Amino acid sequence: MYTIREALQQRADYTHQFNLKTGRHGWLRLTPAYSVKVVEELIERYEAPVKILDPFCGTGTTALSAVNHGHAAVTTDINPFLVWLARAKLAHYSQAVVIEAAKAGKAALDLAQREAVQPASEPSIYKIERWWSEPTRRFLCYLKAAITEAGGPEGPVNDLLNIAFCRTLIKLSNAAFNHQSMSFKSDVQCLFEFDPKVGAMFLDDLTFVLGGAKQNPLERGEIILGDARDLTTHLDSKFDVVVTSPPYANRMSYIRELRPYMYWLGYLLNGRDAAELDWLAVGGTWGVATSRLTEWLPSGDRWLPDDLPSVLSGIANGDNANGALMSNYVAKYFEDMSMHFNNLRDVLNPKARVHYIVGNSTFYKILVSTEKLYANILREYGFTNIEVRPIRKRNSKKELIEFDVSAIWPGS
Ligand SMILES: C[S@@+](CC[C@H](N)C(=O)[O-])C[C@H]1O[C@@H](n2cnc3c(N)ncnc32)[C@H](O)[C@@H]1O
Repeated sequence: MYTIREALQQRADYTHQFNLKTGRHGWLRLTPAYSVKVVEELIERYEAPVKILDPFCGTGTTALSAVNHGHAAVTTDINPFLVWLARAKLAHYSQAVVIEAAKAGKAALDLAQREAVQPASEPSIYKIERWWSEPTRRFLCYLKAAITEAGGPEGPVNDLLNIAFCRTLIKLSNAAFNHQSMSFKSDVQCLFEFDPKVGAMFLDDLTFVLGGAKQNPLERGEIILGDARDLTTHLDSKFDVVVTSPPYANRMSYIRELRPYMYWLGYLLNGRDAAELDWLAVGGTWGVATSRLTEWLPSGDRWLPDDLPSVLSGIANGDNANGALMSNYVAKYFEDMSMHFNNLRDVLNPKARVHYIVGNSTFYKILVSTEKLYANILREYGFTNIEVRPIRKRNSKKELIEFDVSAIWPGS
């Protein structure tokens, strides 16, 4: 049996599909398991306590590993749902809170099964019927409201119940996790009709969550809602080490991937909000972001690597109607990352070491060597000792590789 921390840490890649029979599910798989291992290894190198920053928090892997090894950790993310999740993941839960959450979970399930609360309204996720059958949605609406009733509207008990709720709702959904982006199983409608035994599933999920919560570290990291391109606004101290896995230039939308949780927990109210949040994120291209990218022009005030223009024109002139759009996508991605690296310098102590775990990508057979482009940006901004270390192949496409791009900030 996994603990919550193991489950959240050991998320496999999007290649593994949820198996309803065994109940094994990686839940929120933002970071492949091996990247988690790489992060752990990098952090283990520091014996004396250091101050570690992860500007792209995701589900909080770096911060959790840092505090587990006795370091101070601060992490930022632009996505409020992930900030909530990482805070819940890093919080310390007393025995009393865990017991209270177990009782509240049972009470919530009882209320939901008897339909003895005013149900929450159904989230306005596009084509919700593709995700959950009508009876399942009805149960989730009652359970959501019952969690607030029994666990309080906020606080640690509510957090723990809502993490279990997230696990349950994704298990009950028709979403398949065999692609990088969620897709739907083909025989959607009939695949999962509501089964009254799902109540037991929620309690199993809660037991699983509480089992992990009991082991949470006493030390807390600081998790901040903020933009990694503007760190100086959000951070008031300086750091010795950065370990992070930023978005890749591969069009993966975290908002799109996380939308079932974000809608049910009220972090997204409609498609427009979702698209706006995705546009704010580095590498976001979902919905409105696509049309904005068509008109997007480089600001011109960020340094971009000399080898980028040839990559961009290769993509723009590729044999594809979307070439110009994708070229803009890649250009904006590097402009955003350049802004981030530029700003990062102001929150680093002299001799700070930075590690970026990042993969390359391809657009219409044109290779975008993100690792080399990062190295060039870091060099331009005065970082030294720049190293690019291949970590592993990402999938069957042999040119797709993940790297650890590391460097030292000598101080200004
Ligand atoms: C590859 S994921 C990080 C995975 C993380 N290491 C983990 O353990 O889950 C990249 C993260 O960067 C966040 N992000 C994207 N743009 C951002 C920005 N401008 N500022 C801060 N975070 C951002 C995304 O929301 C996403 O959570």
